[in-house]
Amino acid sequence: MRITPSGRQDLTSQEDSSSTRPGWLWNTPRHVAIIMDGNGRWARKRHLPRIVGHRAGASSVRTIVTAARTWEIPYLTLYAFSWENWSRPRQEVDGLMNLLEEYIDNEIRTMVDRGIRFSVVGDRSRLPASVRKKIAWAEGETIGKDRMVLTLALSYSGREEIVRAARNMAQDVQKGLLSPEKISETVFSRYLETSVLPPPDLLIRTSGEVRISNFFLWQLAYTEMYFTPTLWPDFGEESFRQAIEDFQERRRRFGKADEDIEGLPG
Ligand code: FPP
Repeated sequence: MRITPSGRQDLTSQEDSSSTRPGWLWNTPRHVAIIMDGNGRWARKRHLPRIVGHRAGASSVRTIVTAARTWEIPYLTLYAFSWENWSRPRQEVDGLMNLLEEYIDNEIRTMVDRGIRFSVVGDRSRLPASVRKKIAWAEGETIGKDRMVLTLALSYSGREEIVRAARNMAQDVQKGLLSPEKISETVFSRYLETSVLPPPDLLIRTSGEVRISNFFLWQLAYTEMYFTPTLWPDFGEESFRQAIEDFQERRRRFGKADEDIEGLPG
Protein backbone atom coordinates (compact mmCIF):
# COMPACT_ATOMS: atom_id res chain seq x y z
CA MET A 1 0.00 0.00 0.00
CA ARG A 2 1.46 3.34 -1.06
CA ILE A 3 1.13 6.42 1.14
CA THR A 4 0.58 9.63 -0.82
CA PRO A 5 2.48 12.84 0.06
CA SER A 6 -0.64 14.06 1.88
CA GLY A 7 -0.29 11.07 4.20
CA ARG A 8 -3.31 9.26 2.83
CA GLN A 9 -3.39 5.65 1.94
CA ASP A 10 -3.59 5.13 -1.77
CA LEU A 11 -6.65 2.94 -2.44
CA THR A 12 -5.01 1.59 -5.53
CA SER A 13 -2.45 -1.10 -5.99
CA GLN A 14 -1.09 -0.83 -9.51
CA GLU A 15 2.01 1.20 -10.14
CA ASP A 16 1.70 2.11 -13.83
CA SER A 17 1.30 5.88 -13.63
CA SER A 18 3.11 6.65 -10.37
CA SER A 19 6.44 6.91 -12.18
CA THR A 20 4.99 9.43 -14.65
CA ARG A 21 3.07 11.43 -12.05
CA PRO A 22 3.83 15.12 -12.62
CA GLY A 23 5.72 16.87 -9.81
CA TRP A 24 2.93 19.37 -9.08
CA LEU A 25 0.65 16.57 -7.94
CA TRP A 26 1.26 16.67 -4.20
CA ASN A 27 -1.54 17.01 -1.68
CA THR A 28 -4.18 16.35 -4.30
CA PRO A 29 -7.81 16.15 -3.17
CA ARG A 30 -9.01 12.64 -2.48
CA HIS A 31 -12.52 13.41 -3.66
CA VAL A 32 -13.38 16.09 -6.22
CA ALA A 33 -17.02 16.91 -6.86
CA ILE A 34 -18.07 19.11 -9.77
CA ILE A 35 -21.25 21.04 -10.52
CA MET A 36 -20.98 21.15 -14.31
CA ASP A 37 -22.75 24.33 -15.30
CA GLY A 38 -22.91 26.57 -18.35
CA ASN A 39 -23.66 24.23 -21.26
CA GLY A 40 -26.73 26.25 -22.22
CA ARG A 41 -24.89 29.59 -22.19
CA TRP A 42 -22.03 28.06 -24.16
CA ALA A 43 -24.50 27.05 -26.86
CA ARG A 44 -26.41 30.35 -26.77
CA LYS A 45 -23.21 32.33 -27.34
CA ARG A 46 -22.77 30.34 -30.55
CA HIS A 47 -26.46 30.55 -31.58
CA LEU A 48 -26.69 26.78 -31.27
CA PRO A 49 -29.39 24.59 -29.68
CA ARG A 50 -28.87 23.80 -25.98
CA ILE A 51 -28.31 20.13 -26.72
CA VAL A 52 -25.18 21.04 -28.68
CA GLY A 53 -23.91 22.66 -25.48
CA HIS A 54 -24.65 19.48 -23.53
CA ARG A 55 -22.84 17.45 -26.18
CA ALA A 56 -19.79 19.72 -25.80
CA GLY A 57 -20.23 19.26 -22.03
CA ALA A 58 -20.06 15.49 -22.44
CA SER A 59 -16.74 15.96 -24.20
CA SER A 60 -15.46 17.92 -21.16
CA VAL A 61 -16.63 15.04 -18.97
CA ARG A 62 -14.33 12.71 -20.93
CA THR A 63 -11.39 15.11 -20.58
CA ILE A 64 -11.85 15.60 -16.84
CA VAL A 65 -12.38 11.91 -16.08
CA THR A 66 -9.19 11.09 -18.00
CA ALA A 67 -7.21 13.78 -16.16
CA ALA A 68 -8.55 12.76 -12.75
CA ARG A 69 -7.61 9.14 -13.38
CA THR A 70 -4.14 10.07 -14.67
CA TRP A 71 -3.56 12.30 -11.65
CA GLU A 72 -4.65 9.48 -9.36
CA ILE A 73 -7.60 11.23 -7.81
CA PRO A 74 -9.45 8.33 -6.17
CA TYR A 75 -12.99 9.78 -6.22
CA LEU A 76 -14.63 12.01 -8.81
CA THR A 77 -18.31 12.92 -8.57
CA LEU A 78 -20.11 14.81 -11.33
CA TYR A 79 -23.51 16.47 -10.84
CA ALA A 80 -24.96 15.52 -14.21
CA PHE A 81 -28.72 15.90 -13.69
CA SER A 82 -30.52 17.38 -10.71
CA TRP A 83 -33.95 16.49 -9.38
CA GLU A 84 -35.01 19.99 -10.48
CA ASN A 85 -33.75 19.37 -14.04
CA TRP A 86 -36.82 17.16 -14.66
CA SER A 87 -38.78 20.38 -15.14
CA ARG A 88 -36.76 21.29 -18.26
CA PRO A 89 -38.41 20.91 -21.68
CA ARG A 90 -39.03 17.30 -22.66
CA GLN A 91 -36.77 17.57 -25.68
CA GLU A 92 -33.80 18.70 -23.56
CA VAL A 93 -34.37 16.00 -20.93
CA ASP A 94 -34.58 13.32 -23.63
CA GLY A 95 -31.43 14.68 -25.25
CA LEU A 96 -29.56 14.52 -21.93
CA MET A 97 -30.72 10.95 -21.29
CA ASN A 98 -29.51 9.93 -24.75
CA LEU A 99 -26.15 11.58 -24.10
CA LEU A 100 -25.80 9.63 -20.88
CA GLU A 101 -26.44 6.33 -22.59
CA GLU A 102 -24.04 7.28 -25.36
CA TYR A 103 -21.40 8.25 -22.81
CA ILE A 104 -21.64 4.90 -21.03
CA ASP A 105 -21.50 2.98 -24.32
CA ASN A 106 -18.48 4.90 -25.55
CA GLU A 107 -16.54 4.95 -22.30
CA ILE A 108 -17.18 1.57 -20.72
CA ARG A 109 -14.12 -0.07 -22.29
CA THR A 110 -11.84 2.76 -21.13
CA MET A 111 -13.34 2.59 -17.64
CA VAL A 112 -12.69 -1.13 -17.39
CA ASP A 113 -9.16 -0.84 -18.82
CA ARG A 114 -8.21 2.06 -16.57
CA GLY A 115 -9.68 0.57 -13.40
CA ILE A 116 -12.53 3.06 -13.04
CA ARG A 117 -15.54 1.99 -11.03
CA PHE A 118 -18.74 3.57 -12.28
CA SER A 119 -21.56 4.42 -9.91
CA VAL A 120 -24.69 6.55 -9.75
CA VAL A 121 -26.43 8.33 -6.87
CA GLY A 122 -29.90 9.84 -7.04
CA ASP A 123 -33.47 8.73 -7.58
CA ARG A 124 -33.16 6.13 -10.31
CA SER A 125 -36.87 5.39 -10.29
CA ARG A 126 -37.48 8.56 -12.30
CA LEU A 127 -34.95 7.66 -15.01
CA PRO A 128 -36.14 5.99 -18.23
CA ALA A 129 -35.92 2.18 -18.07
CA SER A 130 -33.24 2.06 -20.78
CA VAL A 131 -31.01 4.45 -18.80
CA ARG A 132 -31.56 2.47 -15.58
CA LYS A 133 -30.62 -0.70 -17.40
CA LYS A 134 -27.48 0.82 -18.89
CA ILE A 135 -26.38 2.18 -15.52
CA ALA A 136 -26.86 -1.19 -13.82
CA TRP A 137 -24.89 -2.84 -16.62
CA ALA A 138 -22.00 -0.34 -16.36
CA GLU A 139 -21.92 -0.69 -12.58
CA GLY A 140 -21.72 -4.46 -12.99
CA GLU A 141 -19.00 -4.27 -15.64
CA THR A 142 -16.81 -2.04 -13.47
CA ILE A 143 -17.44 -3.65 -10.09
CA GLY A 144 -14.22 -4.17 -8.14
CA LYS A 145 -12.27 -1.62 -10.20
CA ASP A 146 -10.18 0.21 -7.65
CA ARG A 147 -8.15 2.97 -9.26
CA MET A 148 -10.90 5.58 -9.23
CA VAL A 149 -14.59 5.77 -8.40
CA LEU A 150 -16.54 7.85 -10.91
CA THR A 151 -19.94 8.77 -9.52
CA LEU A 152 -22.64 10.51 -11.51
CA ALA A 153 -25.29 12.32 -9.49
CA LEU A 154 -28.42 11.78 -11.57
CA SER A 155 -31.92 12.85 -10.68
CA TYR A 156 -30.20 13.89 -7.48
CA SER A 157 -31.36 16.24 -4.73
CA GLY A 158 -29.38 16.78 -1.53
CA ARG A 159 -32.51 17.50 0.51
CA GLU A 160 -34.27 14.44 -0.87
CA GLU A 161 -31.28 12.26 0.04
CA ILE A 162 -31.43 13.57 3.61
CA VAL A 163 -35.20 13.06 3.83
CA ARG A 164 -34.85 9.51 2.51
CA ALA A 165 -32.14 8.77 5.10
CA ALA A 166 -34.36 10.20 7.88
CA ARG A 167 -37.31 8.10 6.71
CA ASN A 168 -35.25 4.90 6.65
CA MET A 169 -33.81 5.68 10.05
CA ALA A 170 -37.28 6.33 11.49
CA GLN A 171 -38.41 2.97 10.11
CA ASP A 172 -35.49 1.26 11.87
CA VAL A 173 -36.45 3.01 15.11
CA GLN A 174 -40.05 1.87 14.65
CA LYS A 175 -38.89 -1.72 14.09
CA GLY A 176 -36.77 -1.55 17.24
CA LEU A 177 -33.50 -1.88 15.29
CA LEU A 178 -32.20 1.52 16.38
CA SER A 179 -32.70 3.49 19.56
CA PRO A 180 -33.07 7.28 19.19
CA GLU A 181 -30.27 7.88 21.76
CA LYS A 182 -27.86 6.07 19.44
CA ILE A 183 -28.45 8.51 16.58
CA SER A 184 -25.29 10.50 15.90
CA GLU A 185 -23.75 12.16 12.86
CA THR A 186 -21.89 8.93 12.13
CA VAL A 187 -25.02 6.80 12.42
CA PHE A 188 -27.07 9.25 10.36
CA SER A 189 -24.51 9.42 7.57
CA ARG A 190 -24.66 5.63 7.22
CA TYR A 191 -28.26 6.01 6.08
CA LEU A 192 -27.29 8.33 3.24
CA GLU A 193 -27.07 6.83 -0.23
CA THR A 194 -23.62 8.40 -0.55
CA SER A 195 -22.31 6.79 2.65
CA VAL A 196 -19.75 4.79 0.69
CA LEU A 197 -18.07 7.97 -0.57
CA PRO A 198 -15.71 10.09 1.52
CA PRO A 199 -16.88 13.71 1.77
CA PRO A 200 -15.55 15.83 -1.09
CA ASP A 201 -12.33 17.73 -0.37
CA LEU A 202 -12.90 20.06 -3.30
CA LEU A 203 -16.10 21.25 -4.96
CA ILE A 204 -15.77 22.96 -8.33
CA ARG A 205 -18.63 24.87 -9.91
CA THR A 206 -18.25 26.26 -13.40
CA SER A 207 -20.06 29.12 -15.17
CA GLY A 208 -19.76 31.83 -12.53
CA GLU A 209 -22.75 30.81 -10.41
CA VAL A 210 -21.85 30.85 -6.72
CA ARG A 211 -24.30 28.45 -5.10
CA ILE A 212 -24.71 24.79 -4.18
CA SER A 213 -28.04 24.15 -5.93
CA ASN A 214 -29.21 21.31 -3.68
CA PHE A 215 -26.08 19.24 -4.23
CA PHE A 216 -24.43 17.16 -1.44
CA LEU A 217 -25.86 19.36 1.35
CA TRP A 218 -24.66 17.07 4.13
CA GLN A 219 -21.36 16.10 2.55
CA LEU A 220 -20.04 19.61 1.79
CA ALA A 221 -19.75 20.70 5.45
CA TYR A 222 -15.95 21.12 5.30
CA THR A 223 -15.37 21.03 1.56
CA GLU A 224 -13.18 23.66 -0.08
CA MET A 225 -15.15 25.53 -2.75
CA TYR A 226 -13.78 26.67 -6.09
CA PHE A 227 -15.96 28.79 -8.37
CA THR A 228 -14.81 29.66 -11.86
CA PRO A 229 -16.48 31.75 -14.60
CA THR A 230 -15.39 29.20 -17.22
CA LEU A 231 -18.38 27.49 -18.83
CA TRP A 232 -18.35 23.71 -18.48
CA PRO A 233 -17.69 22.93 -22.17
CA ASP A 234 -14.59 25.17 -21.96
CA PHE A 235 -13.38 23.56 -18.73
CA GLY A 236 -10.44 21.46 -19.86
CA GLU A 237 -7.37 19.87 -18.31
CA GLU A 238 -5.65 23.22 -17.71
CA SER A 239 -8.69 24.66 -15.90
CA PHE A 240 -8.90 21.51 -13.78
CA ARG A 241 -5.24 21.76 -12.92
CA GLN A 242 -5.71 25.40 -11.84
CA ALA A 243 -8.55 24.35 -9.53
CA ILE A 244 -6.37 21.67 -7.94
CA GLU A 245 -3.44 24.04 -7.54
CA ASP A 246 -5.78 26.52 -5.85
CA PHE A 247 -6.89 23.75 -3.48
CA GLN A 248 -3.26 22.94 -2.70
CA GLU A 249 -2.78 26.47 -1.38
CA ARG A 250 -5.71 26.25 1.04
CA ARG A 251 -5.26 25.74 4.75
CA ARG A 252 -7.93 23.31 5.81
CA ARG A 253 -8.90 23.89 9.41
CA PHE A 254 -12.08 21.82 9.83
CA GLY A 255 -13.23 24.37 12.42
CA LYS A 256 -10.00 24.21 14.44
CA ALA A 257 -7.65 27.08 15.25
CA ASP A 258 -4.54 27.28 13.02
CA GLU A 259 -2.22 26.42 15.95
CA ASP A 260 -4.08 23.16 16.54
CA ILE A 261 -3.45 21.90 13.05
CA GLU A 262 -0.53 19.54 12.70
CA GLY A 263 2.18 20.83 10.39
CA LEU A 264 1.18 24.48 10.60
CA PRO A 265 3.15 26.99 12.65
CA GLY A 266 1.21 27.83 15.83
C1 FPP B 1 -25.86 22.55 -16.60
O1 FPP B 1 -25.78 23.43 -17.69
C2 FPP B 1 -25.64 21.19 -17.06
C3 FPP B 1 -26.58 20.21 -17.03
C4 FPP B 1 -27.94 20.41 -16.53
C5 FPP B 1 -26.31 18.87 -17.55
C6 FPP B 1 -24.89 18.40 -17.47
C7 FPP B 1 -24.68 17.42 -18.56
C8 FPP B 1 -23.52 17.22 -19.20
C9 FPP B 1 -22.27 17.86 -18.82
C10 FPP B 1 -23.44 16.33 -20.39
C11 FPP B 1 -23.92 14.95 -20.21
C12 FPP B 1 -23.32 14.27 -19.04
C13 FPP B 1 -22.60 13.14 -19.07
C14 FPP B 1 -22.08 12.56 -17.81
C15 FPP B 1 -22.27 12.47 -20.32
P1 FPP B 1 -27.07 24.31 -18.03
O2 FPP B 1 -27.82 23.62 -19.09
O3 FPP B 1 -27.82 24.60 -16.79
O4 FPP B 1 -26.37 25.61 -18.57
P2 FPP B 1 -26.91 27.09 -18.45
O5 FPP B 1 -27.00 27.41 -16.97
O6 FPP B 1 -25.84 27.90 -19.13
O7 FPP B 1 -28.22 27.15 -19.15
